[in-house]
Amino acid sequence: MTQGTTKEQQPGTGPGRRALLGAAVLGAGGAALGLPGTARAAERGRGHSHDDLPVPLVVAHRGTSGYRPEHTLGSYQLALDMGAHVIEQDLVPTKDGHLVCRHENDITGTTDVADHPEFAGRKTTKSVDGVSLTGWFTEDFTLAELQTLRAKERIPENRQRNTIFDGRWSVPTFEEVLQWAEKEGRKRGRRIWLHVETKHPTYFRKLGLGLEEPLVKLLRKYGRHKKNSPTFLQSFEPSSIERLGKLVDGPLVVLLGDADTQPWDFVEAGDPRTVADLITPEGLEWIASFAQGIGPTLDLIIPKDEDGKLLEPTTLVRDAHAQKLVLHPYTFRNENTFLPADYRRGTDPNAYGDVFGALKAYLDTGIDGIFSDNPDTALLAAAEIGGR
Ligand code: G3P
Ligand code: CA
Repeated sequence: MTQGTTKEQQPGTGPGRRALLGAAVLGAGGAALGLPGTARAAERGRGHSHDDLPVPLVVAHRGTSGYRPEHTLGSYQLALDMGAHVIEQDLVPTKDGHLVCRHENDITGTTDVADHPEFAGRKTTKSVDGVSLTGWFTEDFTLAELQTLRAKERIPENRQRNTIFDGRWSVPTFEEVLQWAEKEGRKRGRRIWLHVETKHPTYFRKLGLGLEEPLVKLLRKYGRHKKNSPTFLQSFEPSSIERLGKLVDGPLVVLLGDADTQPWDFVEAGDPRTVADLITPEGLEWIASFAQGIGPTLDLIIPKDEDGKLLEPTTLVRDAHAQKLVLHPYTFRNENTFLPADYRRGTDPNAYGDVFGALKAYLDTGIDGIFSDNPDTALLAAAEIGGR
């Protein structure tokens, strides 16, 4: 099994390196010492971009995907209005090389492409990172064609309320997001932090659509390529992060899927290491040689038993902090069906469970941030444990 492919797909130097180091050390030490988030943030070092950020920080996962169709300007805007510290984008390319914000290149589940008879002939079956998918794919559309589509809710069976926004927004380009962030930054008198992921980078490079170069070109155009730029760059494929690290100076985060999975670039290169190897002290030391953080799945922070209930936390927070890596785990969602079993309430899988109890369990481990589909509740939980 490879990582970077979620269940949802089936149907449908750095940051101030020193600041990050400080954040990492104090994320662990601060938690152990009971320091409030503000104190931990203040201790992270001065003069670096991360001084602005709270600990723990809340990353709006695909915007506010708990409330709006994901990766739309409406989803990002609500996240910012809620006060999310960082807004996430996932990037894939169009046929003509433009970067657009989609969680995957298969746009069957998140756009109305199936309702466009002019594109019926584009439906096809492909193998993406070893997974066979049937649908419509961004790399088969020019940007002009893609912009005739409208975004829709990915999981209407769970989030029926969000479907009232179906059709309201188009698929944004990454450049549109950068322009939006500039405008909002001017309006609010502060920098707008982004957390930008390259999706399927090896797959696209083999198609002649490498992601990193056009991404860096845009980052340079909008001044987000520097040491203190308010932009995290993330990928499930370490080689994409290494490539980006040679081109920009901002903070880099290696995403980590389930322990038994392999990054797809490892599969392609014949590298036998799994995520289990990468979360050993040696693996984390290797990641720390080119990145400043990791984005592990929450199960790597606190595993679950066979009933889906939380067990004791692993040593990953301590081990990553020992390598001066920050941790931004993913993804917290408020609905029962996505919560650990011991934090569900009632029998409706789509009702909200004990969200604050579950968030506290994760945040108490000393993680430096968390990706959430519901930034508002994550922000409250972060504030309750001493964040600012
Ligand atoms: O990038 C952090 C998190 O978003 C990773 O999961 O599959 O939602 O991109 P995914
Ligand atoms: Ca992502």
